[in-house]
Amino acid sequence: MAFDIDMIKKVYATMAERVDKARELTGKPLTLSEKILYSHLWEGKPTEAFTRGKDYVDFAPDRIACQDATAQMALLQFMQAGKPKVAVPTTVHCDHLIQAKQGAAPDLKRANETSNEVFDFLGSVSNKYGIGFWKPGAGIIHQVVLENYAFPGGMMIGTDSHTVNAGGLGMVAIGVGGADAVDVMAGMAWELKFPKLIGVKLTGSLNGWTSAKDVILKVAGILTVKGGTGAIIEYFGEGAKNLSCTGKGTICNMGAEVGATTSTFGYDDSMERYLRSTDRADVADAANEVREYLTGDDEVYANPEQYFDEVIEINLDELRPHLNGPFTPDLATPVGQLGEKAKENGWPLKVDWGLIGSCTNSSYEDLTRAASIAKQAVDKKIKAKSDFGINPGSEQIRFTADRDGILKIFEDLDATIFTNACGPCIGQWDRSDLKGEEKNTIVHSFNRNFSKRADGNPNTHAFVGSPEMVAAIAISGRLDFNPMTDTLLNEDGEEVKLDEPRGIELPPEGFAVEDAGYVEPLVDGTGVNVSVSPDSERLQLLTPFEPIGSEIKGAKLLIKAFGKCTTDHISMAGPWLRYRGHLDNISNNMLIGAVNAFGKKTNFVKNQLTGEFGGVPDVARDYKAKGVYSVVVGDHNYGEGSSREHAAMEPRHLGVAAVIVKSFARIHETNLKKQGMLGLTFASENDYDLIQEDDTFNFLDLNEFAPDKPLTLEIVHADGSKDVIKLNHTYNNSQIAWYNEGSALNLIKKENAS
Ligand code: F3S
Repeated sequence: MAFDIDMIKKVYATMAERVDKARELTGKPLTLSEKILYSHLWEGKPTEAFTRGKDYVDFAPDRIACQDATAQMALLQFMQAGKPKVAVPTTVHCDHLIQAKQGAAPDLKRANETSNEVFDFLGSVSNKYGIGFWKPGAGIIHQVVLENYAFPGGMMIGTDSHTVNAGGLGMVAIGVGGADAVDVMAGMAWELKFPKLIGVKLTGSLNGWTSAKDVILKVAGILTVKGGTGAIIEYFGEGAKNLSCTGKGTICNMGAEVGATTSTFGYDDSMERYLRSTDRADVADAANEVREYLTGDDEVYANPEQYFDEVIEINLDELRPHLNGPFTPDLATPVGQLGEKAKENGWPLKVDWGLIGSCTNSSYEDLTRAASIAKQAVDKKIKAKSDFGINPGSEQIRFTADRDGILKIFEDLDATIFTNACGPCIGQWDRSDLKGEEKNTIVHSFNRNFSKRADGNPNTHAFVGSPEMVAAIAISGRLDFNPMTDTLLNEDGEEVKLDEPRGIELPPEGFAVEDAGYVEPLVDGTGVNVSVSPDSERLQLLTPFEPIGSEIKGAKLLIKAFGKCTTDHISMAGPWLRYRGHLDNISNNMLIGAVNAFGKKTNFVKNQLTGEFGGVPDVARDYKAKGVYSVVVGDHNYGEGSSREHAAMEPRHLGVAAVIVKSFARIHETNLKKQGMLGLTFASENDYDLIQEDDTFNFLDLNEFAPDKPLTLEIVHADGSKDVIKLNHTYNNSQIAWYNEGSALNLIKKENAS
């Protein structure tokens, strides 16, 4: 059903030659991360050594995975490329659009009713273009990928930041925006700045209450939420080998919480066991043949300071369980010290909910360790003080855990078993126990705990811990409970202590599933009709953008953004997520979060044609309707934040011809280029100050648009006075071709047709 062993064998067949060449070019032994990167160059065999943290390099990923929220726009765009099939193996997973409320069956039924239009669309596009489709209820994207597709030494991209989870099986797996995924689906290279490398040496082995989750909670405390930015975190050492494969997945998963590009581990026996257990003995056999290439060189791990940009060492023998939070995953506190901290900060000590699962922690080992605690509560007659919710990561995990009596243990504690989906981890949680925005505390085994993340309530204090610690805390109902030292009073009035958790790494009787929820696409999908209702609120087929051309004259200033303007300011999330597949509807959020430099208000700009003030999308729509291009002006690092392609597509859709700023966040700049519009920077930063509210713009030499040649802009002020300034750009020849064709996808389509 799932993986493509021939593709994997192909990757392995060229690995030795490419890695050996990279070793020769760099003149040094290689880390695992470098081996994977150099063996996935778009050009094939390496011809030069790259500088980490500096060079932009084209790569050829082996796989793509998309979740249902991000896949909508990605697939709508892919449909524009005019390709009969995706160029690399791709899967779509329906996991984000399912709300947790009453339990799996009624929740899934409701999701299938409310989002059926989106699911049907994703299913039919997948069928048409050769994409594997995982239905709602099949599981969470990263757990399903780990169980079915991840393989040691591979490279994948996914339209979700926790794609990095696949590092648990020795991949370089990276979260990207939809536009990047579309490029690769359409057969183009994927560009990435060659990452820096952080080495984490693990010694000793986990014991007692400490789990793999505590490794990353500790790393998050050391690196903080930005400490991994632009870097791959590579784990090695005896301690790494002592971890289970799914434990490694948990650690890699939360690498996203320290901003890391991705995290990975070298191939070892735990991965081999996991591959065999998940019915992939042939992948394990193939990996065994190139084993030395699937881990870092011995010399690198013997002297890591020489080969990594930064090295951290953690002794697992001494590591203690942590709970991180509230409101940020890097606020790490060892269990036992939280009571005092909570009192100092006014965090509620009473715990209302314990939530177990998500893509981070729903392996067989996780569930058995947490169940071993839950069972003690039943056996020792302790009544759980908090509510329990469980989100299995996949149908395979759920079915197996059910067969083996694990779910029954939680049910005996009155736990609610939610759908195999993201649920409370992404705010899809309709909590009935709160009336308003009461201050309360929850503990969960997820990865993120930002304000409002789980239930939309800014006063929910969420703490992140291992599943077994979440179980213990939820049973006690108190944040200051330390199961290693404290006792609980049972129904007979006796003081009882919880024993250490016991887990089973892999199901002794093997994994099982009746219907995994996978739909194999047709071999030839040309006859499949993808229908989108013209009345749909949530989906809209895209029409190719018309080229803007070389005559931009009389363009009007739409907004001069003041200060920080991130992709969230440009295209807000929250309730707008609903319209991710409908470009016209979601464009109603365009730049509504940006502060206008004139008047310092948000979503309040002057319409120069009417003299009236209005919201940014409304004014833009009016200009567009009257055939007038508009221009957005911005400050430094414009478009920082995420790689969300909507932030570029919306201005393009509403008639913005150029975005002119002091500096860009690079991904957003590239996204603007891909949509066939101008992303330019002031040659002299101070020229930002020349821009007035009633300005009109004339591009004087756009007909000579060429690489490395600044453009000239005439600014006509309301009093008729003029300034002529220079604008820099970073367009190369192919990006200028995107501009000339109207978008990168238009160009791909044209090349396909010829
Ligand atoms: Fe879903 Fe939460 Fe993971 S939203 S993909 S379970 S981080």
